[in-house]
Amino acid sequence: MTANPVLSRDTDGVRTLTVDRPDKLNALNRQTLQALDDAFASAANDPQVRAVVLTGSGAKAFVAGADIAEMNALTAIEGREFSLLGQRLMRRIERLPKPVVAMVNGYALGGGLELAMACHLRIAADSARLGQPEVNLGLIPGFGGTQRLLRLAGRAAALELCLTGAPVDAVRALQLGLVNRVVPAADLEAETMKLAAQLAAAAPLALRGVLDAIVLGGECGLEEGLQFESAQFALLFASEDMREGTTAFLDKRKPQFHNR
Ligand code: CAA
Repeated sequence: MTANPVLSRDTDGVRTLTVDRPDKLNALNRQTLQALDDAFASAANDPQVRAVVLTGSGAKAFVAGADIAEMNALTAIEGREFSLLGQRLMRRIERLPKPVVAMVNGYALGGGLELAMACHLRIAADSARLGQPEVNLGLIPGFGGTQRLLRLAGRAAALELCLTGAPVDAVRALQLGLVNRVVPAADLEAETMKLAAQLAAAAPLALRGVLDAIVLGGECGLEEGLQFESAQFALLFASEDMREGTTAFLDKRKPQFHNR
């Protein structure tokens, strides 16, 4: 057991979580997966936190995957537990009631790309490389990558990345819809924090409604998804922030949202 492998810093409603194993390119061992799970649970429960940024320590990697040294010694039963631990974390992130932005500052491979894909938005440095290289290890993605990559980038791209194991550069990742934006590496932090600050200043209940409608609603058929959207829409009429947002527009002033 080493020191907490996840650093946490709060600035004006934005919690930045940093996977901190730079010597191992921030590879996800069980301790790190558990620490991330705890960190996201705490971010979800803390009313001061309005948005989360997730990144990796050092200039080289976001996360270079699940920890290969740790996996090398696992039995099949332990391998299943490892996969379930990773999948649970990814699902927690995806279902977080607050927006999560992945700041992809370098390699996002295997479990690292799976982690980025579980986030709601992804901004990549132009130096980033993203891929699912598990086949090169005699494995397949095990933290939800086959399913999220398919949904995010489509069957052709999912099959290409998972079958060849070859990483793509940031520009190709953007073309595939794997990331939302690519920025020069030197601007990555400033651009990500600008986006996170914008999210942190927005009406939290409305953001939660968007996340629920798109993440959960997107897992239903169209009819159920539309019903779900209407229910989320209606619920917001009970919020003070909706009255404030619409009144501020009519008064031609900036709204002040209070998460009520
Ligand atoms: N697990 C464990 N250790 C890792 C690691 C990983 N995924 N990725 C890198 N490291 C370690 C290296 O072993 C090395 O450690 P030592 O200094 O102790 O030898 C250190 O990080 C630096 O890495 P490299 O020397 O390899 O750095 P490089 O610049 O030559 O290469 C790289 C960078 C191309 C990213 C290369 O490290 C690499 O290919 N890493 C593995 C990527 C990978 O296969 N990821 C998928 C893992 S499987 C998975 O994620 C399964 C899943 O879906 C759940």
